[in-house]
Amino acid sequence: MPQSQKSNVSLKPYNTFGIDVKTSQFAEADSIESLRNILLQTDISKTPLLVLGGGSNILLMADFPGLVILNQIKGIEVVSENDKTLIVKAGGGERWHQFVLWAVEHNLGGIENLSLIPGSVGAAPIQNIGAYGVELKDSFHSLEALNISTGVVQTFTKEECKFGYRNSVFKNELKGKYIITSVMFELKKNPVFNTSYGAIQSELEKNGITELSVKAISDAVIAIRRSKLPDPAEIGNAGSFFKNPEIEKSQFDVIHEKHHDIVHYPGADGKIKVAAGWMIEQCGWKGFRDGDAGCHAKQALVLVNYGKATGEQLYNLALKISHSVQDKFGVTIEPEVNLIG
Ligand code: EPU
Repeated sequence: MPQSQKSNVSLKPYNTFGIDVKTSQFAEADSIESLRNILLQTDISKTPLLVLGGGSNILLMADFPGLVILNQIKGIEVVSENDKTLIVKAGGGERWHQFVLWAVEHNLGGIENLSLIPGSVGAAPIQNIGAYGVELKDSFHSLEALNISTGVVQTFTKEECKFGYRNSVFKNELKGKYIITSVMFELKKNPVFNTSYGAIQSELEKNGITELSVKAISDAVIAIRRSKLPDPAEIGNAGSFFKNPEIEKSQFDVIHEKHHDIVHYPGADGKIKVAAGWMIEQCGWKGFRDGDAGCHAKQALVLVNYGKATGEQLYNLALKISHSVQDKFGVTIEPEVNLIG
């Protein structure tokens, strides 16, 4: 085994669910060169590979029989500027929220609604992170990613990333083929703020804010998230465990007949997006706990590890939850987090 790699390493510090499993090999990369070296020293045709950023969107279900690479490529730099926008490049290993705070500090708009989302910059485009009416793709310019089999760094435009709701090309046809080394954003000097999400407006009113600013919105989002979502430093979790499903209008109409108060929004292609958290709560899971695996008491879409839950226990709870939503509403809910192992 190459010297830069360690063997038999616990992944507990590297996943926000706090699952205590081990990986056979572990390496950290703080540059494209070190990434290439690690890959050159590994027989990638035989070794399962898992690239981790913040580890905030995974559920580890077993020991990992391969190589985990921690992306630690840092750096934030302004690439170009005009009178309206700045193109800013951030290293894939930067913490997402640190990058948002950098934008807030420089009064640059576009990602303030995405404050306090755990995880790394490099992982953010993979699932097109989103919150409070805004998605990463709205401020995305392009990204650079290392092709794992050739070692070549390629640029991907917004179109090439094929962003969708919690989705991109990196979750589909290019899954496992690239490591995102940096992401470029187009940030605005005079942004149009998105306060369409009701809770943002009430939070701003509560704080007596009459003049909107990048900082005021960021602060409001931080306060809302803190009030509803568990802090992974205190209770293990990976944010929303399931995606909000999009269903056909005809199916929605049948459910709506029976459940008038079902929370829903317009979805893509005439479909209806239904709040999975609402359905899970209706099935009685909110606040449920079995051992250390539970369903968060303030947000039913979030599964939590109170301490020593295993990935399997959390997965079994997720299965029970999705079966009961299927039985009660006839709707299939799918995990948002990546299940590993
Ligand atoms: N709701 C309930 N009970 C619950 C949870 C939610 O009735 O236990 C209802 C709420 O009252 C609200 C609706 O469902 O009317 C939506 O809830 P919320 O605004 O909390 O958002 P969400 O749809 O549950 C999504 C994202 C979150 C993001 C929020 C805010 C997904 C899978 N999740 O959650 O993203 O922060 O909207 O925009 O789309 C994440 O991806 O990890 C994540 C936290």
